Order: sequence, then structure tokens, then C-alpha cells
Amino acid sequence: MELYDAMRTTFAAREFTDEPLPDATLAQILDRARFAPSGGNRQGWRVIVVRDPATRKTLAELTAPAAKRYAAQQQAGENPWNTVDPTKVDAATIERTPVPVRLTEPLVRAAVVLVLCVDLKVVAATDQLLQRVGVVGGASIYPFAWNILLSARALGFGGTITTLTVSAEPKLQELLGIPRHVAVAAVMPLGRPVKQLSKLKRKTVPEFAMLERWGGPPLTAPRP
Ligand SMILES: Cc1cc2nc3c(=O)[nH]c(=O)nc-3n(C[C@H](O)[C@H](O)[C@H](O)COP(=O)(O)O)c2cc1C
Repeated sequence: MELYDAMRTTFAAREFTDEPLPDATLAQILDRARFAPSGGNRQGWRVIVVRDPATRKTLAELTAPAAKRYAAQQQAGENPWNTVDPTKVDAATIERTPVPVRLTEPLVRAAVVLVLCVDLKVVAATDQLLQRVGVVGGASIYPFAWNILLSARALGFGGTITTLTVSAEPKLQELLGIPRHVAVAAVMPLGRPVKQLSKLKRKTVPEFAMLERWGGPPLTAPRP
């Protein structure tokens, strides 16, 4: 598959056929994904392959509270789970919001679920002293996560980087025996997508790229 084709058609797959994704194929996907970069090339990723239906049901249950909050904030016109603008949605509203099954069912229905972990002992988080949420540490694991999806896409499989379950990380660690210094970065359902999207909704370059400084003129293609 052409690199550019893979980049522009790798979507968040949440609906899957019954086709299995055998260990051999999964190993091939991970064998390609492992060339992802990480800070200092420390490769702190670890992958837990979850097939057990009971474990996956628990994963979905652990995801539900965060998914409810996501939906409630979205309904209130907020950017869910952002760390800058405090939510105006109260706990009771979140509580009575129905679980958006679209955000939990893929964990039960996909051929397999990968729990992507990262060993924090080897992650250089250069923004750890700043007065804001850390983002740099994620850069040592999410390129790997994305490589898994690209690699799966090349074989006709698909999945989603999901993070809602991470809000229940202590319970996840207990469920799967993950040590405390190992963070869960994503929970990834994988399988054969029911349909293949080919047109993804994304901003155009001038909408996010600017020249020289914040608020500078947008980067546009030179006139021919
Ligand atoms: C960091 C990150 C966290 C995400 N968390 C979730 C999640 O918890 N649940 C989910 O269903 N999708 C999750 N997604 C998937 C995004 O919703 C998806 O990538 C985005 O909407 C684009 O979808 P598309 O490629 O199908 O257009 C996450 C994606 C990223 C990159």
C-alpha cells in the first residue's frame, strides 16, 4: 500500500466483522509498528493482547464512566476532558447520561483488544515541571500506537486509539497486573472493519499552519 494512501485512509474503526485476527497476523503488525520513534530510543512500550471475553467486558465497564462524562460535556457544548476550561457539567448530569455504546462496545466486539502500556521509568517527560498537563511523555508511545494502526491498515485491518479507559488506570492496573510505574496509554480494539472509510474529515493546512509566529499569516501553497 502507498504510504500516502495509508496516511489518508487510516480512520478510527469501531465496527468490525466476525473475522478473527490471529496471533500470527498480530505479531506481523507489531513487528512493523516497532520501528516507531521514542524519546532516547528507549522503546518503553509493552503490549497486552486481550482476547478473554470476561476481561474485555470489564474493560468496557471501566470505560463507561469516562464515556458518560465525554458525552455529557459534548452535549453541553464543551471540549470533553480538556484541562484548560473547567467543566460546568455537574456529577448528577454525568451520572444520568446514558453510556454511549459506540465508545464501549468496540472493546467487546473487536477481534482483539490491545492494551498499550509504557514504562514511565524510561520516558523522558521534559515538560514535567511546567504548570500544565504533560504532553511530551505521550510522544514516546503514541507514534507506536499510530504505527500499529498504519500497519493494520496495510493488511486490511483497523482499530482505534482509545483513551477513556485510562481514567480508571488503577483499576486497569489491578485487572491486568500492570505495575504502578507502567502507565496505560491506550486501549485499542482491532479487527476487520465493516466498511473502509476513504475520506477523512480534517482541517486544511492554512487552518493550522502559520508563518513565523502564533497568529502569523497562514501557510498556503505557493501560487503556480
Ligand atoms: C489520543 C486519542 C484518544 C482517543 N480516544 C478515543 C476514545 O477513548 N474512544 C474512541 O472511541 N475514540 C478515541 N479516539 C479516536 C478519535 O475519536 C478519532 O481518531 C478521531 O475522531 C478521528 O476519527 P477518523 O479518523 O475516523 O476521522 C482517540 C484518538 C486519539 C488520537
